[in-house]
Amino acid sequence: MTVYRKARMRDVPELQRLINSYAEKGLMLPRPLVMLYEGLRDFVVAEDGGEIVAVGALHIVWDDLAEIRALAVAPGKEGRGYGRGLVGVLLDEARDMGIGQVFALTYQPGFFEKCGFSVVSKDTLPHKVWGECINCPKFPKCDEVAVMYTLDR
Ligand SMILES: CC(C)(COP(=O)(O)OP(=O)(O)OC[C@H]1O[C@@H](n2cnc3c(N)ncnc32)[C@H](O)[C@@H]1OP(=O)(O)O)[C@@H](O)C(=O)NCCC(=O)NCCS
Repeated sequence: MTVYRKARMRDVPELQRLINSYAEKGLMLPRPLVMLYEGLRDFVVAEDGGEIVAVGALHIVWDDLAEIRALAVAPGKEGRGYGRGLVGVLLDEARDMGIGQVFALTYQPGFFEKCGFSVVSKDTLPHKVWGECINCPKFPKCDEVAVMYTLDR
């Protein structure tokens, strides 16, 4: 049975291992340890049989707007619904907080479309979104795709 729960301090090494294994392949952005500790309250993990099989975070960015970031399913565990399940939990969290819109910047827009997101122009995102991009190795040549989900309230 899959359990979705908030991340705990002891999960940090596994979060870093998982995210940075994809970052090394250029599939995700790397997350230094300091960002994982500072953002730990944003993270949800999916556990199956006591093993972490997926991680992801919901980060509040601006008025009525949050971002799904650092979404990663463990290698070999893809295609079993863990990604969609985790996105669903993060959207529920946003809904509970009264947040109207959730976006992601991703190399996997097709997956997010399957989760109900729509591809949008990056120009539609507020300037605040780009504040943290200055720390990105790809700045200013962002090649990620923006996807957006509007929640019913
Ligand atoms: C992309 C990722 C999060 C998807 O998670 P997953 O658990 O493998 O996906 P799910 O099993 O929940 O798939 C849900 C649906 O999306 C589809 N899907 C999965 N990955 C997809 C992709 N890369 N492109 C298009 N569709 C995809 C599935 O086929 C499924 O469709 P269905 O409803 O028709 O059956 C996962 O493969 C992953 O962690 N990849 C490496 C890291 C990464 O790229 N993270 C995204 C950063 S934003």
